[in-house]
Amino acid sequence: MNFLLTTSLYLFTVNLISCSITTQYYQHLINQRTKEALRYKLPTSNNEFKLGVESENTEEYGEFDFVIVGAGSAGSVLATRLSEIDDFTILLLEAGGEEDDFNQIPALWLYNQFSEKNWGYYSIPQKHSCLGMNNRQCVVPRGKLLGGSSSINGVMYSRGNCKDYDKWYQIGNRGWSCKDVLPYFKKSENSQISGDENYRGKGGFWNIEYPLPDSPLYQNFVNGSLELKQPIVEYNGKNQIGASHLQSNIKHGRRQSLATAFLDNSRHRSNLKVLTKTLVTKVVIDPQSKKATGVEFVTRNKKFHVRATKEVIVSAGAVNTPQLLMLSGVGPKDELSKLEIPVVADLPVGKNLIEHPILGLMVRSDYTPPKIGLNELIQQYLNGFGALTKGANVEGVGYIQTKNDSSEVPTIEILVSIPPHIDSSIFQRQFNYNKNIIDGLLDTIDPQRDIFFYIVLLHQKSRGRIFLNSGSPIDFPNIDFNMLSEQEDVDTLIEGVKYVQKLLKTHAFRKINATLLEVPICTNFKISSKEYMECLIRNLANSGSHPCGTAAMGPNNGNFVVGDTLEVHGVGNLRVVDASIFPSSISGHLNAPTVMVAEKAADLIKKEHKYL
Ligand SMILES: Cc1cc2nc3c(=O)[nH]c(=O)nc-3n(C[C@H](O)[C@H](O)[C@H](O)COP(=O)(O)OP(=O)(O)OC[C@H]3O[C@@H](n4cnc5c(N)ncnc54)[C@H](O)[C@@H]3O)c2cc1C
Ligand SMILES: *[C@@H]1O[C@H](CO)[C@@H](O)[C@H](O)[C@H]1NC(C)=O
Ligand SMILES: *[C@@H]1O[C@H](CO)[C@@H](O)[C@H](O)[C@H]1NC(C)=O
Ligand SMILES: *[C@@H]1O[C@H](CO)[C@@H](O)[C@H](O)[C@H]1NC(C)=O
Repeated sequence: MNFLLTTSLYLFTVNLISCSITTQYYQHLINQRTKEALRYKLPTSNNEFKLGVESENTEEYGEFDFVIVGAGSAGSVLATRLSEIDDFTILLLEAGGEEDDFNQIPALWLYNQFSEKNWGYYSIPQKHSCLGMNNRQCVVPRGKLLGGSSSINGVMYSRGNCKDYDKWYQIGNRGWSCKDVLPYFKKSENSQISGDENYRGKGGFWNIEYPLPDSPLYQNFVNGSLELKQPIVEYNGKNQIGASHLQSNIKHGRRQSLATAFLDNSRHRSNLKVLTKTLVTKVVIDPQSKKATGVEFVTRNKKFHVRATKEVIVSAGAVNTPQLLMLSGVGPKDELSKLEIPVVADLPVGKNLIEHPILGLMVRSDYTPPKIGLNELIQQYLNGFGALTKGANVEGVGYIQTKNDSSEVPTIEILVSIPPHIDSSIFQRQFNYNKNIIDGLLDTIDPQRDIFFYIVLLHQKSRGRIFLNSGSPIDFPNIDFNMLSEQEDVDTLIEGVKYVQKLLKTHAFRKINATLLEVPICTNFKISSKEYMECLIRNLANSGSHPCGTAAMGPNNGNFVVGDTLEVHGVGNLRVVDASIFPSSISGHLNAPTVMVAEKAADLIKKEHKYL
């Protein structure tokens, strides 16, 4: 009796101590990383790989059936699926390093952008958008670690609209209609959402859940949406248009990057080798046979060549994939010739860059969020709930059709981000806003109590492009978003602003005295005039971190880079598998569609080699 009592007392004490050690560890980690992010200097080139690139020797690294470039969302899924076949050998090459406990905290996502986990890109100076940014350059965060952008993103899970994929099919892509791709969305997921079983998957690697609990403001959003005759929907189910609760790629509150969800389950396999801190500098393509035979890469200051006996698969993301293809001679002939890169295939690589412009509106209300100390927030996080589990603090999502037509595809997405915004200290760096705007914003907003409404333009008409700066893999590529070059895009965003204004006039929001805060810019225009709104949009709207389309999928007619098997037109043994292949825009966020593409690609490859 006595013995039992002491044992349980002893266990109890141990438990308490280990719990407080964990809390202290997180407190230290968060304090340290958030401070570092405010000072961190982003790189302006791939200089860390310079010694390797300039090395005189090239060592042979042997041969693998498949060499995959990039362990991001697509690469992590693809490597996991291909290594299910024991006969395949796979080498997965990733420029960045490992994930850690910090990047897995969803609410602190922004800080990763000011660390070595981000490539550090900015767009070239813009003409029509990002006019309020320093040197008119939009920020272009891109994950540089295992899991890629899924390891630093906002963990919002959305698949887009069924009709988006029917459009891919109509372009001439067999096997990519809505009904064709749905099984691949279901395959990857382990859904904790109470949705329609015909649409949702259970038992997959990737966990989807609601971040909890809701703030009371979420109900204001639901009630206000209902007043505007919007239905309440499960937006990844049958009907997308309406208001909804955000679904998130988290598991028990922690980020589920594709490295955590997939690669962690396959890395131990003896037929899969993963190399981090490794930059692929070139896909080697035989000029006679026009077949990819391997890649060159640098790691730890050394240069290597590795052979791919079956295929090279480029999954370097929508910015780096076109860069690598062009460095390897696959791209627009005139541009490559100017840089003296021998042309292997003349294809529109880097063109058709699609983005989702996003505008934030600040709203003051009488709602005051409860004050919760960091210690308690960490305890909540460790128990799988609370503010730290919410990517970008978003709770409410609306997919809205602002045009009066019957297309049933939303034009605008509204994201409702709930205070307090724990990441307010990074706010100044987030958008690269110039001093004038930052000072004005900081004077106006109170991150502790203001609600942020984000308006996303889902189907822009404008197109940008990625192009090379030089023929060296050390140089960053040029990113020209060219957002809002089409007036129609500005006009649709204005409809989005009007929608938020209507929402604020509903009983549900008037009840808490919600009012739009005026930003002290564009003061030469009459407030609420069309010209004023256009000025706000062109100054403040940013890229939504959703680049895609730069190696678009479609028929071999000069407008597309890969066919519907994702093989590069006119080049053998070379595939592109990532967000670059999207031929047209998606009515939602890009991570789930990218994972779908990788799941489908794995099956295409397995079928080709008669394993399916
Ligand atoms: C800040 C941010 C927030 C976002 N928020 C959301 C969200 O909430 N929900 C959502 O659905 N989507 C979101 N997205 C978009 C989504 O995360 C991306 O579209 C998706 O991860 C793209 O996957 P990918 O495989 O195409 O590229 P990535 O995941 O970017 O993977 C590319 C990988 O290749 C590596 N690589 C590149 N070049 C080389 C090279 N030469 N050699 C070796 N390795 C290389 C990179 O380091 C990276 O790991 C967000 C993106 C960002 C950046
Ligand atoms: C939302 O509407 C319901 C039903 O009318 C009501 O009971 C509830 O109080 C409302 N909540 C808010 C925050 O407006
Ligand atoms: C929008 O569509 C509805 C139903 O088709 C129609 O009754 C209404 O007049 C239209 N409104 C405008 C402004 O075109
Ligand atoms: C409502 O908000 C406005 C603007 O923030 C403020 O001036 C006003 O006093 C508020 N009214 C109430 C009743 O709180």
